[in-house]
Amino acid sequence: MEISFLTPDHFALAYLVATILFVLGLKGLSGPKTALKGNLYAMIGMAIALVATFLNPEVRQYSWILAGLLGGAVIGTGIALKIEMTAMPQLVAALHSFVGLSAVLVAAGTFLAHRDSAELNGVFMAEIAIGSFIGALTFTGSLVAFGKLQELLSSNPVIFKGQHALNALLGFAMIALCGAFVLTESFPLFLLMTGIALLLGILLIIPIGGADMPVVVSMLNSYSGWAAAATGFTLGNNLLITTGALVGSSGAILSYIMCKAMNRSIISVILGGFGGEAPTAIDPNTPQKRAKSASVEDLAFMLENAQKAIIVPGYGMAVAQAQHSIKEVLELLQSKGVEVKFAIHPVAGRMPGHMNVLLAEADIPYDVVQEMEEINAEFASTDVTFVIGANDVINPAAKTDPKSPLYGMPILEAYRSKHVFVSKRSMKAGYAGVDNLLFYYDNCSLVFGDAKGTCDKLANSLKESH
Ligand code: TAP
Repeated sequence: MEISFLTPDHFALAYLVATILFVLGLKGLSGPKTALKGNLYAMIGMAIALVATFLNPEVRQYSWILAGLLGGAVIGTGIALKIEMTAMPQLVAALHSFVGLSAVLVAAGTFLAHRDSAELNGVFMAEIAIGSFIGALTFTGSLVAFGKLQELLSSNPVIFKGQHALNALLGFAMIALCGAFVLTESFPLFLLMTGIALLLGILLIIPIGGADMPVVVSMLNSYSGWAAAATGFTLGNNLLITTGALVGSSGAILSYIMCKAMNRSIISVILGGFGGEAPTAIDPNTPQKRAKSASVEDLAFMLENAQKAIIVPGYGMAVAQAQHSIKEVLELLQSKGVEVKFAIHPVAGRMPGHMNVLLAEADIPYDVVQEMEEINAEFASTDVTFVIGANDVINPAAKTDPKSPLYGMPILEAYRSKHVFVSKRSMKAGYAGVDNLLFYYDNCSLVFGDAKGTCDKLANSLKESH
């Protein structure tokens, strides 16, 4: 479909406009108020990129592209309609693995197609090699992350003696083989290098414990961007280079922010070396460990007589879809003169910004929602903290138990408030599989039951006493 009036400058301009729209998209996605607009910019950018690529005279065969587009659109739409919000991280991990795999396939395909041509100079060979090993690392690393998040694999860290030495050895071997491949143009060396990168991807992710998975997902997001950028170099496609670099660098910035929030070292994440020890089993019945339970009526009484209350949402609120019920609770408490704020931990839920999205969906005003650094100083002067389905992000073991996989992660200091009520269904641990020491504190009571049921009952109790 060659359109004669279109020159290379037109395509370059279209790619430039698309890139600018992607940048505006990322900027919009950095805050809940502008996120919708950001998404819209990114979608328009992608539409321009697709149309421009489709019209490019270098494209000679439309049938395969159309088959891919159609197949991808059908599968993608099906998944988007079916996927639960809580399963988003594993979907993202699975999608990263596709980017990684396609980078490997493009690298191999490009090498085989140009094998005997004069185009295969050192720079081109290096692009192919780098694209393949970043893609291979991303592919298997993302598959392991998917397995852990989907609970197909245990989320406990897998640690063995000599792990760092083995990783370092494999890393050096991969780079040496990369150099040898560039010099010799030997396909078996390419396969060996890619095989080592595939193994390394697994080894880098298995030592990561459950609590640290958010950082890994954003790190793999960054790797997938660099893999796409490398593919862009291989294919000589400027848009893929800039888009890949945008994903790579924004993923790296997000990883850095998450590392800071979780008090982890970014170098350790890259080297795959920061899993904690396996979690200890929960034993709520030992004499010194007995958790108290409370009824919804007790909770309602304490809340309406409080001057100041903080609500801490977590993954359980997302599972129960309790955000709309909690909005009603918020309004009822406000009408009774209680000052209510929401406290958001950066890794609460299962994806960055998970809680912000749910609270925004329920139209909870942004001005009562505060991030961890802002609100932690306020817990000590709070009468009642109501925790809805959060667990790891309020576990004092992160401060007090150096053996805990959570140790070092900053938490929402709910334990400092006068009374803490936790809505959950059982004594089960949270994502990191760690017993929560807060449950055994004198000022803490557990309100057992599904979070939505608990919030609905709470709203009714508050209405009755109106
Ligand atoms: P978690 O520690 O996972 O705890 C969730 C709690 O919700 C559990 O204790 C569970 O207890 C309760 N729950 C589940 N369904 C419920 C329901 N229907 N009603 C009431 N309670 C329910 O959650 P969190 O505190 O939000 O911490 C997040 C964890 O996920 C962290 O370890 C974090 O590192 C990890 N993670 C986060 C991300 C991102 S980026 N946010 C990504 C991957 C992993 P019961 O089963 O007893 O009800």
